[in-house]
Amino acid sequence: MTETPVAPSTARMIDYWLGGRHHYPVDVAAATAFEGAYGPCAEIFRSLRAFLGRSVAYLAGQGIENFLVFGAGVPTRGNVHEVAADAHVLYTDIDPVTIALGQEVLAGHDLAGYAFGDATDPAGIDPAALARFLPGWGREPIGVVFLGLAAFLDDPTLARTLDQLHRVVPPGSMLAFDFDGEELTGYPEALAMMGEGFHMRDTATFPALLGKWRPTSDGIVPVARWRPEGQAAEVPDAFHGGVALH
Ligand SMILES: C[S@@+](CC[C@H](N)C(=O)[O-])C[C@H]1O[C@@H](n2cnc3c(N)ncnc32)[C@H](O)[C@@H]1O
Repeated sequence: MTETPVAPSTARMIDYWLGGRHHYPVDVAAATAFEGAYGPCAEIFRSLRAFLGRSVAYLAGQGIENFLVFGAGVPTRGNVHEVAADAHVLYTDIDPVTIALGQEVLAGHDLAGYAFGDATDPAGIDPAALARFLPGWGREPIGVVFLGLAAFLDDPTLARTLDQLHRVVPPGSMLAFDFDGEELTGYPEALAMMGEGFHMRDTATFPALLGKWRPTSDGIVPVARWRPEGQAAEVPDAFHGGVALH
């Protein structure tokens, strides 16, 4: 496993909550402290990962064969290449420890890879990684997976980022997105743990940030209620999301 990090990562805390193996003691300590201030998190993150699964399966069902994943975190536990097993997938993140972990997990995988990628600067993604893992890049519709990331970008940055992404992918591309609702308002200690760069949003103001991306008729809803398979999971409405068309 890669070198032990000194700081926790929300992505590896999620891996811990999902029962994965790719996290460190520092991540477990942060996850445990957060649960002390908020309450159990595993069911909420299972429901969020299930939303990733349903939205990616929906995009694949619409003919998307190339997925570019931002703020990807740990590429396991029902992640994009496991759901869309025949698709080409490039996972990206900015956290060097998580990127190294992801590259270790995907080593030798034919169709999925992991590279540095700052969502706010898509032009900065290594062209060699794009060419290797997204053969359709620049020619075919792209499935942009933007989950667990909006909370870390302020409104102007998020709007500019989604606009840039709209401009770099061809018509027919689709976006799977989510954002943090205002659940943590009731838990000030947990909210403080997320730091100053953490942004909660309401469903009335979020759509304007999507710019030219057009949400499907399924709308922007609590993630457990986005095209549920059977009964929707009974979890707090901590995350809202949907799918949008180019
Ligand atoms: C809450 S985690 C979500 C991980 C994953 N998407 C999931 O749902 O399990 C947020 C991730 O976004 C990454 N991140 C933060 N700012 C970013 C940026 N500007 N561009 C790309 N990734 C970013 C963090 O390093 C972290 O891995």
